[in-house]
Amino acid sequence: MYTILVTGGAGYIGSHTVKRLLDAGYNVVVADDLSTGHQSAVDSRAAFYELDVCNNQAFGDVLEKEQVEAVLHCAGKIVVSESVENPLKYFDHNVSGLNEVLKVVVEKGIKKFMFSSTASIYGNNCFNIKAVETTPVAPTNPYASSKLMGEQMIHWVSERYDMNYVIFRYFNVAGAELDSSNGLRTKNPTHLVPSINLTLLGKRPVFEIFGNNYQTEDGTCIRDYIHVCDLARAHQLGMDYLFDNGQSTIFNLGSEKGYSVKEVADTASQITGIPLIYKISERREGDPDFVLANAGKAREKLNWEPEYTLEEIIKSDFDWRKQS
Ligand SMILES: NC(=O)c1ccc[n+]([C@@H]2O[C@H](COP(=O)([O-])OP(=O)(O)OC[C@H]3O[C@@H](n4cnc5c(N)ncnc54)[C@H](O)[C@@H]3O)[C@@H](O)[C@H]2O)c1
Repeated sequence: MYTILVTGGAGYIGSHTVKRLLDAGYNVVVADDLSTGHQSAVDSRAAFYELDVCNNQAFGDVLEKEQVEAVLHCAGKIVVSESVENPLKYFDHNVSGLNEVLKVVVEKGIKKFMFSSTASIYGNNCFNIKAVETTPVAPTNPYASSKLMGEQMIHWVSERYDMNYVIFRYFNVAGAELDSSNGLRTKNPTHLVPSINLTLLGKRPVFEIFGNNYQTEDGTCIRDYIHVCDLARAHQLGMDYLFDNGQSTIFNLGSEKGYSVKEVADTASQITGIPLIYKISERREGDPDFVLANAGKAREKLNWEPEYTLEEIIKSDFDWRKQS
């Protein structure tokens, strides 16, 4: 079976994907510096290397030793507000860091590359439409810009060195394994579903809704939520596609269903039977009113269909937080 190296495989999305790739029969190697990841999240069937993937020598040695045939690059910095505060850090990790990874991937002759990108590169351009992969991009913060630059770098490197790639633009990823064996381990998450659940569990005093004057029915932002296990399955299908000699391309990964912040909060209260203490705060800079996916291309070319509902996303994260 083929061997895949997952950078950032001890992180939230990486670790769920590692499990799915292993279940599908791939050999999996994880390279992670544990800056935000957790070794305990890594499936014991995977080989684990604690290293900074920007260390060319160490990264190259692992690719060679493990005879890696494809790389999934999940490693990166992901907090939008931090990127606004410290843009150079984001360009350092997500742009220069990716450049170092690509140098070694090219040097070692690896021809298959997969990349974690984000729907935030569409910025405000998907107002009241479902974004398709050709919707014009318009990043509104350094994090999104760094991811767009990453996409462009991969495109040009692949043109020159005959490398095939799949880029996934994730919409809002949430949820945990249904048996609570894994979930989002970030200490102080800013993501919506964990923030709501932490408040319901009494681990935070109040849930903040950032702005209720957006151009939506109830005034709160509308987003597209996708379960992390559905996302993991898409990566496995994407790897199958690359190993079947699929052409380089970009896929949106979203559920195609939009929920407002208030709807998510109300659903969480209903499912758990716990009233949610919330307050309305100021809008955050750069938050678009409406972000929704058209994932038709992934459905058609990868035969991928999201399985989990918003209720299952919320409930699995709640159960995971309750026991951890
Ligand atoms: N979580 C989301 O909702 C979301 C949405 C869109 C895109 N993404 C992208 O998905 C990817 C994974 O996100 P996540 O939510 O799993 O984040 P995460 O912080 O849980 O995972 C990132 C992992 O990368 C590791 N890492 C960072 N820099 C490294 C380096 N130089 N060398 C080795 N390891 C390094 C961290 O230790 C961590 O394990 C990121 O690239 C992110 O931009 C995430």
